[in-house]
Amino acid sequence: MSAVGVRSVLLLGGTSDIGTAICRALVDRGATRVVLAGRDPVGLALRAATLKHVNIEVSLLDFDVVDSSRHRDLIDRATEMVGDLDVVICAVGVLADEQGIDADPVAIARVVAVNMGGTMGVMAAASSRLQHQGHGTLVVLSSVAGFLVRSDNPIYGASKAGLDAYACALDDLLRPSGASVLVVRPGFVRTAMTAGMADRPMATTADAVAAAVVKGMDHDAHVVWVPRPVGLVMNGLRLLPRSILRPLLRRQQ
Ligand SMILES: NC(=O)c1ccc[n+]([C@@H]2O[C@H](COP(=O)([O-])OP(=O)(O)OC[C@H]3O[C@@H](n4cnc5c(N)ncnc54)[C@H](OP(=O)(O)O)[C@@H]3O)[C@@H](O)[C@H]2O)c1
Repeated sequence: MSAVGVRSVLLLGGTSDIGTAICRALVDRGATRVVLAGRDPVGLALRAATLKHVNIEVSLLDFDVVDSSRHRDLIDRATEMVGDLDVVICAVGVLADEQGIDADPVAIARVVAVNMGGTMGVMAAASSRLQHQGHGTLVVLSSVAGFLVRSDNPIYGASKAGLDAYACALDDLLRPSGASVLVVRPGFVRTAMTAGMADRPMATTADAVAAAVVKGMDHDAHVVWVPRPVGLVMNGLRLLPRSILRPLLRRQQ
């Protein structure tokens, strides 16, 4: 659905820098009811304060993505608070402590549980609601790291690859109902998640991701890359055989 008609927004990962930037952009375009869902009540309240304008209602919900048995209930409660969900933003994510072949199996399972298993569960619950409504957009924060999984972040990359694949299939399932999924593939974004890390080529900002999401919604896009040229680079690289790609990727590390 076009960003112009959006009135209600649910942000999963209510303290996310990128997620709150998207909320702000949607409020600027006319959204009036926002639900922030997350684990940290103080962080959520601080984010709510940055969104509040005259005539904007901001509600908070307790949400841990690994608590899959509560996902349907969460979506029901958000719907009770704001009515039909015009946009659901899925901005939950954690980086992995990447140790190559020596990675800790417990740490791998934890990252996959957050970025893929838990997130897929809440996406399914949200999609079911959007399908029932017959309208609405599920905005999913994927990553370039999931489009082309590199050896310097294989755990995070693989978890995003699974998430991205699921999001693409969900879009196919939802489209006949009038609802849809917008898959967002940013490169390096300067946020709390990447604080202290050196910029990667084509580094961008949370506000730039938000602007691309709004534009993508206006064009009923299925995928947006941020910045846009990163999509051309990634699609080109993915055509190369792994034997040629491997040294190229190694040079970027
Ligand atoms: N920054 C980048 O370079 C970049 C690039 C591509 C894609 N992305 C993706 O964009 C999304 C947003 O990232 P960001 O840059 O905005 O980072 P961020 O500010 O660190 O946001 C991450 C969010 O995930 C939430 N989260 C983590 N574990 C959770 C759990 N178990 N249950 C519920 N929420 C949980 C965090 O909540 P807490 O406050 O409770 O920890 C936080 O709200 C993520 O999916 C990330 O993978 C980021």
